[in-house]
Amino acid sequence: MSPQKLLLLSGDGIGPEVMAEVERLIAWMNARKLGTFETEQALVGGACHDAHRVAVTEETMAKAHDADAVLFGAVGGSKWDGVPYEVRPEAALLRLRKDLGLFANLRPAICYPALAEASSLKRDLVDGLDIVIVRELTGGVYFGEPKTIVDLGNGQKRAVDTQVYDTFEIERIARVAFELARKRRNKVTSMEKRNVMKSGVLWNEVVSAVHAREFPDVTLEHQLADAGGMQLVRRPKQFDVIVTDNLFGDMLSDVAAMLTGSLGMLPSASLGELDARTGKRKALYEPVHGSAPDIAGKGLANPIAMLASFAMALRYSFGMVREADLVEQAIAATLERGLRTADLAAAGTPAAATTEMGEAVIKEMGRLAG
Ligand code: IPM
Ligand code: MN
Repeated sequence: MSPQKLLLLSGDGIGPEVMAEVERLIAWMNARKLGTFETEQALVGGACHDAHRVAVTEETMAKAHDADAVLFGAVGGSKWDGVPYEVRPEAALLRLRKDLGLFANLRPAICYPALAEASSLKRDLVDGLDIVIVRELTGGVYFGEPKTIVDLGNGQKRAVDTQVYDTFEIERIARVAFELARKRRNKVTSMEKRNVMKSGVLWNEVVSAVHAREFPDVTLEHQLADAGGMQLVRRPKQFDVIVTDNLFGDMLSDVAAMLTGSLGMLPSASLGELDARTGKRKALYEPVHGSAPDIAGKGLANPIAMLASFAMALRYSFGMVREADLVEQAIAATLERGLRTADLAAAGTPAAATTEMGEAVIKEMGRLAG
């Protein structure tokens, strides 16, 4: 097996703490000969700004292009509120997504039975929840031009963001959603705002056309994105795969995250097009949660979303399905045993530290692997 080259970008806030648990897991897997991972680290986000006055360096971008997969922690924090927009911490993540062509963002929301109590919804609504949000990641209002603030000269300014989608962008993300649904419960719900937005009209049209042409065996449903948000908290188990644009996907995935008990639980995979020549695709794996500066450096962060993001890397970048299952089963087993980080612990009950949770998951992996 040729070595798996990973670039670790832990970033800011709790990023380094949760990444340290993945490094622990990688070392353990290498020692057990469950993998031959080679890792390299680089600064990104605010940490990179402090050192180099940019959110990500050209050297790191080159390393990201070269790696088999990038693992990303989190970026941002109020410390960098005053830095120029172009070099704000988030710019690094957006550039990585755009330059690596990571158009497909998979955000699974799974409610582990042990955590159904931690959800803000009633247990029976979320117990056993297993849905995936497929978010378009390189288009829409995040990247559309013009994107600017102009001075109108009369004491007024005008801010413009541009929501723009071409047919091919909608087609390729729709295909990802339909293909994924075929391996699951065979249902796709597409969400847009066709009642207000031209991009919503085209989105709806193109998703329907791809369905009719290539995936008639999959059930397709359309919901307006606002109604979809409401349905997500009303009856989340009606969904299997949700496909939506960049901005709606950002918002809906935070909502979906909370259904599972904590934002600290949700992993994500951002994937590029399959390269027919190499059989590989560019990929970046990151937790859905942010840098949580309020708890950074205190050992309180939940490393599960980061560990589960690494499991997605095993599955989607390295075809290591058994090992990915092992990580996910170990996470479930650790939760079954009652271990809870502060974000999950009920009021008045003890909370495990970040390192304790990471160590416990590895211990379970050892037990499960025999
Ligand atoms: C996410 C984050 C990012 C986004 C930010 C950090 C730019 O919220 O990955 O969901 O808006 O896409
Ligand atoms: Mn977000």
